[in-house]
Amino acid sequence: MAALPILLFEDKIMETVEKNSVVVIIGETGSGKSTQLSQILHRRGYTRSGAIAITQPRRVAAVSVSRRVAYEVGVQLGEEVGYAIRFEDRTSDKTCIKYLTDGVLLRESLSNPELDQYSVIILDEAHERSLNTDILLGLMKRLVKLRSSNLKVLITSATLDGVKVSKFFSGCPVVNVPGTLFPVEMLYSSERPKSYFDASFRTALDIHSREPPGDILIFMTGQDDIDKMVSKLEEKIQNLDEGSCMDALVLPLHGTLPPELQVRVFSPAPPDCRRIIVSTNIAETSLTVDGVVYVIDTGYVKQRQYNPSTGMYSLDVVQISRVQADQRAGRAGRTRPGKCYRLYPSIVYHEELLDATVPEIQRSSLAGTVLYLKSLNLPDIDILTFDFLDAPSRESLADALMQLYVIDAIDAAGMITHVGRTMAELPLEPSLSRTLIEADELGCLSQALTVAAVLSAEIALRPIQRNAKDSKSKEQPLQLPDGSRWGDHIQLLQIYESWDRADYDSDWCINHNLQVRSMKFSKDVRKQLSQIMQKISKGPVDVQSSLRHRKGEHDYRSLRKALCKGYGNQLAERMIHHNGFRTLGYRSQLVQVHPSSALETNEDGRLSDYVVYHELISTSRPFMRNVCAVDMAWVMPIMKKLEKMDVYKLSGGLEAAITKPVEHEAHQQANKEINSSGTGDSVE
Ligand code: CDP
Repeated sequence: MAALPILLFEDKIMETVEKNSVVVIIGETGSGKSTQLSQILHRRGYTRSGAIAITQPRRVAAVSVSRRVAYEVGVQLGEEVGYAIRFEDRTSDKTCIKYLTDGVLLRESLSNPELDQYSVIILDEAHERSLNTDILLGLMKRLVKLRSSNLKVLITSATLDGVKVSKFFSGCPVVNVPGTLFPVEMLYSSERPKSYFDASFRTALDIHSREPPGDILIFMTGQDDIDKMVSKLEEKIQNLDEGSCMDALVLPLHGTLPPELQVRVFSPAPPDCRRIIVSTNIAETSLTVDGVVYVIDTGYVKQRQYNPSTGMYSLDVVQISRVQADQRAGRAGRTRPGKCYRLYPSIVYHEELLDATVPEIQRSSLAGTVLYLKSLNLPDIDILTFDFLDAPSRESLADALMQLYVIDAIDAAGMITHVGRTMAELPLEPSLSRTLIEADELGCLSQALTVAAVLSAEIALRPIQRNAKDSKSKEQPLQLPDGSRWGDHIQLLQIYESWDRADYDSDWCINHNLQVRSMKFSKDVRKQLSQIMQKISKGPVDVQSSLRHRKGEHDYRSLRKALCKGYGNQLAERMIHHNGFRTLGYRSQLVQVHPSSALETNEDGRLSDYVVYHELISTSRPFMRNVCAVDMAWVMPIMKKLEKMDVYKLSGGLEAAITKPVEHEAHQQANKEINSSGTGDSVE
C-alpha cells in the first residue's frame, strides 16, 4: 500500500490543505485519491471537528470504495467508515468517513445548506463531470465563502483541466500527483472492424494464446454485450487444447453487478491464471482493477443524451473522447509496461475524437436540477445566474422551466410553488414526486407509492404474461387481476401486490422470473418513500403494504388520474386511423408504444386515445416506455395550461431565443394532417 503515489505526496498535500480552503488534486487513476485522502485527513485530525464527506458520481463506486477503506482502517463498514446512496444509508453516529453519491450530498444540503456536519468535503472523480458534481462545484464556491474558517473542499480528478477548475475557485492551488505509469505500447487497427464485438473477441483470444501473463481488460459499451462476451470467451477457453495456454478467469464489470460479483475483480488472479475483465467505462477511472497489462479499447461508449427540443432521451453508442482513450490505455501500464489495442486507426484518435467528453449537464433534462436550485431558497442562487463550470444551453433551461410549470412546481412568474417545495422533499424525479402529491389528494397514495418505488428501483420486468406462454422454463404464469390492460404502471402495481399477497416470498419471485434483489429493493424504497410522505401527507400513510384498494375501482381511475397529473409533460394522443401516437405539448412528435408494453386495446379493439409515458426512448424509432391509459377529461386542463404558458415570464426574462410553445390549435391541425396522410407506423 505504501507504494500508492498519493501517500508519497502526503506532506505536500496536507501543507496545501492547511493553508487553503479549496485545493484541486490531480492524480492518475489508481494513485489512491479515493481510498487514501480521507484516511490521511482522518489521521491528521480533521475528523475532530466534523466528518469527511467524499462524493462519488456512481453508486457502485461509493459502496466499493467505502468497503475497501473500512477494511484498510480495520473497522466494520457502517461504523467509522460508511456510505450513503439513494435509498440506502450505511452510516451511524460513529461515521466520520462517509462516502456518498453526489446526489445524496445535494439532498443533504437541502435540509442543511451549510453542511456543517462536515469539516472536509471531497468532490471525487470530478473529471466525470456528472450533473450533480457540477452543481456541487457551484454550491461549494458559495459555501467556502460562508465557512472559510472551518471547511476544506478538495476537488480530485484523474484528468480534469486543473487550471479551469482553479480559475473557477479564484485561483486555488492545484497539486499534481505524478503517477508511476509504465510505458504502454499502442497498437492501432488499420481500419475500423465491421463488428467491434467480434474484433474484441478475436483480439482477447490472440493475446491470451500468444502474450506473456498479465490480465486483459476489454472495454465494451453495455451489459448485454458484456454478458455475451463473457459467455463466449468462457466457452471458447474451455474448449482450447489442454496445456496450449494458461488458465483464464473471465469476469464482467458494470454498475449493476451484484456486490458479491464486484468483489471478484478486486481480488488478484489465482496462480497461473489470467483474468479477462470485460467492463463498461466504469473501469476507465471509477474503479481501479489491479494487474491489467493488456487493454482492448473498442473506442465506443454508451451515453445517455437528452434532446430538449423533443423531450427524448436516447441511449446512443458514441465515440469516446481522446481523454477517455488515454485513460483506457493508462490502465495497461499501472504495474509494468503494457499494451493497448485500439480497435480503430490512429487517424481516428488524432483527428476524429473529441478532446473531452461533453459534461452531463449539457446532455440531460434539467427539470429536477432547476427545481432543486429553486427549492434551496438562497437569494444569491438562481438558475439563470448560477455559476456553472460549463453552462447548460438556454434551450434546456427553458425546457426545464416549462416542464416544471406544467406540473405546477413553479408559477407563471417562475417562482417555486408550495407543490414544488413538497416535490423537492422527495428523492424522486419531478414526474413521480408530482404523482405522489396528486395521489395523496385523490386517496390512492398507497398504490402510487408502490408504482414510484418499483420504477425507482428500476426493476426490469419482462412482459410477464406474454412471455410465460412461450417460456420453456419452469416459470409459472402470473395471474394478474383484470386491469393490467390499462398499462405498465398498473401492471407493475399488480405484480408488487401479488408479491405482497405471497408474503414477499423469495421463491415466488424466482418462480415468476423476477429478480429477488430488485423486488426487495423496491420494498425498501417503498418504505422509505412512505416515511417521507408521512410528513407530507394529509392522511395516514400505509407504510407496510400496498394492499389498500379503493373499493369498486377496477379501472384504477384515481391512480391513473394522479399519473396523468405527474406526467403532464409526457402525454400522447392517439392518431385516428392508425396505432401511432403523437406527443402533446410544446414539443410534438410521432411515437409508438413500446412493443413490450402491457397496454392493451379497449372493447372497440383500439388503443386508448390518450396515454402518459414514463420515458421516450429512441432505438430504431421513438418509443414510449411504461405507458398508462388516461382520460381526455384529465388531459384537457393540462393542454389549457400549456396554451397560456409564457416562457419569457417563466424565465424571468430569459431572452427570446427560447422556443415558443406549440399552440394547441396548430398542433391539432398538424395532427389532422398526419392522420389523414396515414404515414405512421403501426404498433404491430
Ligand atoms: O482514486 P484513485 O483512482 O486515485 O485510486 P483508488 O481508487 O484510491 O485506488 C487505490 C488502490 O486501491 C488501487 O490499487 C485499487 O486497486 C485499490 N482498491 C481496491 O482494492 N478496492 C476498491 N474498492 C478500491 C480501490
